[in-house]
Amino acid sequence: MKKLLIATNNKGKVKELQELLKDTGLELITPADINLSLEVEEDGATYAENAAKKAIAFARASGLVSLADDSGLEVDLLDGAPGLHSARYHPKPGAKDADRRAYMLENLKDRPHPWTAHFHATIAISVPDQDVQIVEGNCHGEIIAEERGNGGFGYDPIFYFPEKNKTMAEMDMDEKNRLSHRAIAVMNAIPILRKIFGL
Ligand code: IMP
Repeated sequence: MKKLLIATNNKGKVKELQELLKDTGLELITPADINLSLEVEEDGATYAENAAKKAIAFARASGLVSLADDSGLEVDLLDGAPGLHSARYHPKPGAKDADRRAYMLENLKDRPHPWTAHFHATIAISVPDQDVQIVEGNCHGEIIAEERGNGGFGYDPIFYFPEKNKTMAEMDMDEKNRLSHRAIAVMNAIPILRKIFGL
């Protein structure tokens, strides 16, 4: 079977990507499946640089076609922060997702509503010893002042869709996977995977 490595150590991303890619006919491999432990420093100036860096590093280490996601949350009133730095958006080392959500709400609390924002995902696909291909996806909503829901990961409990009256954490994975930034990026990645694997 044709193998694709899901090049991330983020458990939330792994679950979503496995579901989003399940109908491709590819055998989806995680780093844990092949005992691959790789930390890639995300020091690029763009999502594309970071995604490419991760995809290339995992492809080199595994010899497998590798798909990496670099993503973030961009809040308009914070001039697009935390963006590229979403995973590290907290002054305290060792901070968790819940700390980052609280920190964001603290930074927004005196600002006028609505707190419009969008999630962005860049996906890079690396074929060992060949080029890297990049696709993107965005999804628009608002930050709300109180957490709602237990699903998803990261900023999902405070990312709200007014037209659905739900946060991303109040959606089940199927619903999130119909509209998320990652879902749109994967949709754009599928023609590339078809070409690479001759599907
Ligand atoms: P990175 O791609 O490893 O730099 O991490 C992206 C960070 O953006 C995650 O750690 C989350 O904080 C945030 N993020 C990206 N996608 C999502 C999502 O689908 N839901 C909630 N938070 C997300």
